[in-house]
Amino acid sequence: MTDALQEIHDFLPCRTPQKWIENALDNQDLLLIDHAHCEKKAASTALSLMYRYVDNSDLLNKMSRLAREELRHFEQVLAIMNKRGVDYGHLTPARYAAGLRQAVRTEDPGRLVDVLIVGAIIEARSCERFAALAPFLDDKLADFYNSLLKSEARHYQDYLKLAVQANGGPVDERVGEFLAIEKELIEAPDSEFRFHSGPVG
Ligand SMILES: [Fe+2]
Ligand SMILES: [Fe+2]
Repeated sequence: MTDALQEIHDFLPCRTPQKWIENALDNQDLLLIDHAHCEKKAASTALSLMYRYVDNSDLLNKMSRLAREELRHFEQVLAIMNKRGVDYGHLTPARYAAGLRQAVRTEDPGRLVDVLIVGAIIEARSCERFAALAPFLDDKLADFYNSLLKSEARHYQDYLKLAVQANGGPVDERVGEFLAIEKELIEAPDSEFRFHSGPVG
């Protein structure tokens, strides 16, 4: 296992449940469609931070690069879907991101710190899920998911660094509060399968 992945396992409050991996293997088209949505949303979140915090040059640089990478991932997922005859379309979002964002403070600087922590958690979980799924997928998709690991691990680190910067000091306590919510969202039974859903059925 790479050091980056080990760090992410140490950071997250739990591993992806085996049941969710079974759900994913039973719903591979849906997995790809929702994955495409996630990449697009990740780019969009980075862009909205760039619009809101125009005087934070470190944030502007990191988010600009991140947005470009997420859009590139989006194109890569679309290309795989295209080859497999899977159509892209609207999808209701998972409860996951909304569940985390519910706890975000409404006023700055707390708001920024929290949005960045949520960003770090989403990136970390995505990385963990790509790694958890890869051994069970066909070679093509496994290679792709393994290739995404590295950038998502770096995105996690970028978000966390920016959060510490925005907070002017350690964020461990606040991270712990969000991780408690995250654990529930990942482990509690869910009604719909999504890339970031809990186990279904
Ligand atoms: Fe991505
Ligand atoms: Fe990412």
